Amino acid sequence: MIPQAAPPLRIARYRDAIDRAVARVLSGPTYILGAAVAEFEAAFAAQSGGGHCVGVASGTDALALALRALGIGPGDEVLLPAMTFAGTAQAILHCGASPVFVEVDAATRCLDPTAAAQAVTPRSAALVPVHLFGHPADMPALMALADRHGLAVVEDCAQSHGALLDGRPLGSFGHAAAYSFYPTKNLGGVGDGGAVVTRDPAVAERVRRLRHYGFGEGQRVSGQIGFNSRLDELQAAILLALLPHLAEGNAERRAIASRYGELLGGTGIGLPAGHEGCVYHQFAVTVRDRETLRTRLDAAGIGTAVHYAPGLHRHPAFLEGARAPLPVTDSLADSLLSLPIQPEVACGREERIAAVIRECLPCAA
Ligand SMILES: Cc1ncc(COP(=O)(O)O)c(C=O)c1O
Repeated sequence: MIPQAAPPLRIARYRDAIDRAVARVLSGPTYILGAAVAEFEAAFAAQSGGGHCVGVASGTDALALALRALGIGPGDEVLLPAMTFAGTAQAILHCGASPVFVEVDAATRCLDPTAAAQAVTPRSAALVPVHLFGHPADMPALMALADRHGLAVVEDCAQSHGALLDGRPLGSFGHAAAYSFYPTKNLGGVGDGGAVVTRDPAVAERVRRLRHYGFGEGQRVSGQIGFNSRLDELQAAILLALLPHLAEGNAERRAIASRYGELLGGTGIGLPAGHEGCVYHQFAVTVRDRETLRTRLDAAGIGTAVHYAPGLHRHPAFLEGARAPLPVTDSLADSLLSLPIQPEVACGREERIAAVIRECLPCAA
């Protein structure tokens, strides 16, 4: 069986470094907000284009706390792509703001800047571009739009650790970036975790307070309402041990994507747009008869996944954010299929996977 993803295989690959990191925490003096969190924050900030990094409990919290730190709250509308994970919209609602779902570009599967411009209203306060599957959203166009309308921008980098656009790290374009370290991510821990990265020291300081009951440095007095949303020492130590291997994993993902491209090009299947800075969190193809192809792959022992169906504008909890028909999102939701791309699972198995797809294609493409 080739699973679609298997985080334990990545942990097994780096197990010695992880064991040393865990042992250091277990024999250390503190389990919350200690040296490992501080070291990880410094290392992750450096690799994400500089600035400040604040470790939090999840990617959803990273988005919500970054938006709050930028002043987003009740009465505000926040534009986001309809084709993303539910957590992006949940975070906006947790701030008391209203998500407004926007169409994505069919090729990049990321926020369409023209559609975003059309969705702006006098209540629009922020924009949350998602670098879906590790492919960069069009940040120059989206930042120009944000500048024109005075919108705060929080990049959702949950799927784009280490990705680049024009040689510049994703996450360094907006006013803040939110990361998830959920186990399947390109940089994933052995539990939940997240981080906010920003060049603005005031935003970083507000997130630091929000994650820890609204306390100021060294105080136990709540200056504001806060949360318990801290990255813990164990996760931070493990992430610090894995961080030096992120570039290696991303290079392997690019090589697997390129091999899939060679093997599946010209077959009629829809391939990812391809971008030199993409880190292929997923390798999602589009196919007309997805269920037939999924069933055939499953019968051949090859796992797949659907990211994401339906589009967020069709989730019962988010219906208020559906302002306009979103045919591109609907079409992607009906046809996207994620093949195995995690290196520990997919490396060296591209031919086997592609052969099953090619056999099935006359019926499914
Ligand atoms: C695009 C996107 N945004 C937000 C999240 C939420 O992250 P978490 O699961 O760590 O809360 C995820 C991850 O699952 C994601 O893929």
